[in-house]
Amino acid sequence: MGIKILGTGSYLPPKVVTNDDIAKSLDTTDEWIYSHTGIHRRHVAGEGESSSTMGTEAAKKALEAAGVSPDEIGLIVVATSTPDYGPFPSTACLIQAALGCTNAGAFDLQAACAGFVYAVEQARGFVNFYPDKKALVIGTETLTRIQDWTDRSSCILFGDGAGAIVIGNDEAPGVAGTKTDAYTILGADGTGAGFITRTGGMKDAIPFNPETGVPVPVEHVNAKFEIKGHDVFAFAVRQLSKVATDLCVKKGIETTDLDRVFAHQANARIIEATARRMKLPLESFWLNLEETGNTSAASIPISLDQAVKAGELKEGMKIVMIGFGAGLTYAGTYLTWPNL
Ligand code: UT7
Repeated sequence: MGIKILGTGSYLPPKVVTNDDIAKSLDTTDEWIYSHTGIHRRHVAGEGESSSTMGTEAAKKALEAAGVSPDEIGLIVVATSTPDYGPFPSTACLIQAALGCTNAGAFDLQAACAGFVYAVEQARGFVNFYPDKKALVIGTETLTRIQDWTDRSSCILFGDGAGAIVIGNDEAPGVAGTKTDAYTILGADGTGAGFITRTGGMKDAIPFNPETGVPVPVEHVNAKFEIKGHDVFAFAVRQLSKVATDLCVKKGIETTDLDRVFAHQANARIIEATARRMKLPLESFWLNLEETGNTSAASIPISLDQAVKAGELKEGMKIVMIGFGAGLTYAGTYLTWPNL
């Protein structure tokens, strides 16, 4: 007993863009993209869809699966790098209103593709101390909206979607935290901040009117998305296997004792290399990026929900969720399903 995942849900937009579609306007092929990334197609948010609407749909399904009503939710944490508005109102507040979670606090968390694992950790702490309340953790992204669709080395990687979980606790305040088998590693390496960047924030000073000393309005924000693919690839392979191995050492088990690994779906070659380093067969890893591409903070909860729906997760299974992303960030959680 203690802290548990009570329900999962996910949402993928109906519009699908294939590699062949992209190859109509860019110098690329399905063969190149699939062999280098494992991606064939991705879902892309359309008219009326955004991180908040997709997150809301995923959350509705998770609440239904958990048998939890919106007014039982005390906290909504939304992991996203593509909020509806930048930066406020938060996507979490939009989802809170759409669901009618009138008793919930709500905030966004930005740790890029590792964001979902970070968000679960925030919610886990919350329900540990407030067991009379449940928490909603959502990863939702519209990465396709910040791509340079003329850059064949990066736009091919991403897709849109959302995943959500509801967590609850049936122990006294603080007690579950002393009993839980789960363990989390949260990490960052800001020296690699330049590996994945999106400009257009508040870094650059705005000009001042020399006569009045008052800032001059800025007309245009030049937001550019860039990835140093090789550097990110090397970091990902190194960190994913290290985090997963460190979690196993902490729990006194071998990596080969793990039943399932939910790794961030960035590139099939990254996951294959991680599996080799962990001495695990690829079948132990959930793989869906052939259909979804990289959905950043949404990729782990979408995978979890798909595994639940496929009946692949049995009580007591030893699981790790591992992610990495811009920042650079990395994170992993060990759990015995569905206990957190
Ligand atoms: O959530 C984290 C997000 N970031 C990532 O996951 C990125 C991780 N990195 C990667 O997945 C890989 O580095 C990429 C898929 C981005 C690139 O694969 P690569 O094997 O590292 O290719 P490359 O960058 O070394 O490029 C090899 C060649 C280049 O041509 P030249 O210079 O050798 O003539 C590229 O211009 O492939 C070319 N290329 C392409 N060709 C056809 C790059 N993208 C494409 C493309 N189609 N889409």
